[in-house]
Amino acid sequence: MALFNWSNEYSVNIKEIDEQHKVLISLINELHDKMKVGKAKEVLGDILDKLIDYTVYHFKHEENLFASNGYPDSNIHKTVHVGLVQQVKEIKKNFEGGKVVLSMEVMNFLKGWLGNHILGTDKKYSSYLNSKGVS
Ligand SMILES: [Fe+2]
Ligand SMILES: [Fe+2]
Repeated sequence: MALFNWSNEYSVNIKEIDEQHKVLISLINELHDKMKVGKAKEVLGDILDKLIDYTVYHFKHEENLFASNGYPDSNIHKTVHVGLVQQVKEIKKNFEGGKVVLSMEVMNFLKGWLGNHILGTDKKYSSYLNSKGVS
């Protein structure tokens, strides 16, 4: 069973963003699946890299939407993004340096890292952006 299942409660009511969140969820699930079958460190490292790259891409996409629509809470949200990128880069660094092995603890952290951001911070822009015709 997948670690993280997307459901409607995660919808921010903007189609493209929901699709991007699903990509991030599937990368976390892929990491979990490969961890469980004991895949090589390089394989896990590659998925972590993809997760970091896509996270940066996705955050930029959200921030561009904020800028083009004058979202008033843009700065707070951007600051949260910076912290989240630092956290996942830290995991990668510790993993590469052998300080950390991928464990269920790390996987559950990543699940919350993304899930709580969507539910707690991303969802706050839905009604504003919807009101600007972004859907
Ligand atoms: Fe997001
Ligand atoms: Fe966000």
